[in-house]
Amino acid sequence: MLIDSYGRTIEYLRISVTDRCNFKCIYCQSQRPWKQLPPKEILSFEEIEEIVKVSSQLGVKRIRLTGGEPLLRKNIEILVEKLAKIPGIEDLSLTTNGFFLEEKALILKKVGLKRINISLDTLEREKFKKITGKDELNRILRGIEVALEVGFNPVKINVVVIRGFNHEEIIDLAKLTLEKPLEVRFIEFMPLGKNSLWNESKVFYVTEIRKILESFKKLEPVFSVGGGPAKSYKWKGSLGKIGLISPISEHICRYCNRMRITADGKLRPCLFHDFEIDLKAILRKRKGSLREAFKLALKMKPEKGEQNSTIKPMKLIGG
Ligand code: GTP
Ligand code: 5AD
Ligand code: SF4
Repeated sequence: MLIDSYGRTIEYLRISVTDRCNFKCIYCQSQRPWKQLPPKEILSFEEIEEIVKVSSQLGVKRIRLTGGEPLLRKNIEILVEKLAKIPGIEDLSLTTNGFFLEEKALILKKVGLKRINISLDTLEREKFKKITGKDELNRILRGIEVALEVGFNPVKINVVVIRGFNHEEIIDLAKLTLEKPLEVRFIEFMPLGKNSLWNESKVFYVTEIRKILESFKKLEPVFSVGGGPAKSYKWKGSLGKIGLISPISEHICRYCNRMRITADGKLRPCLFHDFEIDLKAILRKRKGSLREAFKLALKMKPEKGEQNSTIKPMKLIGG
């Protein structure tokens, strides 16, 4: 078992499979321009498979594929199929911007993907364009429908709430849960990769979000499938759920159960610390061992993240 110096059991690995993305979400951009990685610097499917095998022997049970946009990675379904077969991996999920879901949801379901989380920060076309840089709101909405149709359940929707930008849409977005088995999660805006848009006044806190949601109807706490930092609720009578994620206002680090693999093959114990161990070098030079690397990462995992301390962009780290 992977237990860190603060008694936390690590059982969740988030793997960024590409640093590329076809969107340019405002909350995801770093001040410093980051050059796209050359393909050879990105882990191959076989390398990812080997890492996951070793991690599962050490106690990892949940894998989440992220990016960049993970569905931009060519033949991603081949990787999903490989990972789904690894003994000990009970939960295999993916976080996506939804752009390729219409064409990919069915095959992903078939090869063993269990869950999908999709980013959607607004229901207004113009605002969607402003946030992502793409006029593709309808396509994403269709992608969400297809994910439900092929049988993913739950389908979670991630809303990064930015004060003055989309906080007025909280009720409208949450209303998606009234008639669909969606789990709409509201996330406090985090300062990652020296994002130039971020400052404290733009954070819309979970306490405020809750008040707004309760002004429509009382929230009831419920259980939700997943291993992340969300607390889940629902409006009585609705099909779906509502999640609240408070990386700024609450110490979610106390319950942290995860480590990350960056697109360039580094094992990163904490989202908010740039300390990393180069797994790709271990794999390619056959020097050192992955097991030892995981143990070192465990030792180095800090008690909590330091906000505003990271320089790597979200796309490389994997969110
Ligand atoms: P499940 O609960 O397993 O469905 O997934 P998740 O909520 O962990 O994954 P997702 O990729 O949908 O992330 C939702 C939000 O939580 C994103 O804004 C992530 O950046 C944030 N998040 C996930 N893990 C951590 C973490 O360890 N620390 C912090 N600060 N934020 C996290
Ligand atoms: N703050 C909070 N959440 C973020 N995400 C991306 N950037 C940020 C940020 N700065 C979320 C997106 C995506 C998930 C992987 O991370 O909603 O769905
Ligand atoms: Fe791409 Fe996701 Fe970043 Fe948006 S948040 S730019 S969809 S990686």
